Amino acid sequence: MKVVVVKNYNEISFQAAQLITDQIINKKNSVLGLATGSTPIGVYQELIRKFQKGELDFSKVVTFNLDEYYGLSPEHPQSYHFFMWNILFKHINLKKENIHLLNGITENIAKECKQYEDLIQKSGGIDLQILGIGDNGHIGFNEPDISLDTRTHLVNLTAKTIRANSRFFNNAQEVPKQAITMGIGTIMQAKKIILLANGKRKARVVERTINGPITTKVPATVLQLHNDVTIIVDQEAAFQFASQQ
Ligand code: F6R
Repeated sequence: MKVVVVKNYNEISFQAAQLITDQIINKKNSVLGLATGSTPIGVYQELIRKFQKGELDFSKVVTFNLDEYYGLSPEHPQSYHFFMWNILFKHINLKKENIHLLNGITENIAKECKQYEDLIQKSGGIDLQILGIGDNGHIGFNEPDISLDTRTHLVNLTAKTIRANSRFFNNAQEVPKQAITMGIGTIMQAKKIILLANGKRKARVVERTINGPITTKVPATVLQLHNDVTIIVDQEAAFQFASQQ
């Protein structure tokens, strides 16, 4: 694992956007795995800025999002569909047919998951996967104690994740209790992975992800087994990790 500690959130966004830019410049038809949540918003803003300056062309890029709440339609303001279109997709020149998101209101979950996995394989696999990390070590919505070789599947969200994500809803009751997510096995097949974390709240889980034993109790620890992971953290999130160096 390569760990890059930078000064602050802006610097995380800047560095991660640069790695994504390098990826797209090297391979115009790159397949990107994308995350939602607060952490990557700055990265997406930086990518939009680069696009507007003519430094980036997304016309051949293919994307797959990590996850979607089960039960939320694409039009729901808290759905990850809605988030991605507003925060990134509508501002850049990705082709609609190259954007892939899980359908949170599918009537056939098994089929939806299988189709998503097949599409990833058909696209040649994910070249670069962007990840955030939950306070409990989840990546995608792979919550603690999940099996480490899962593919795209339906999960029950933990009380901790529901509480953490209630900040985007009116209250915790409104947060869906389930989500569809790429599995750890899907994520581990990405050729390159960039994990981002900022703020004190993530310091403990960042330390465990980097130094801790590999355990299903902290799903992100499995990333230690991947051969091309870059973790970009700000000084606050690196606090516990750095204090051990
Ligand atoms: C989002 C996702 C989640 C988040 C994680 C951190 O697509 O897969 O794993 O990355 O919950 O969320 P934030 O960035 O809001 O702290």
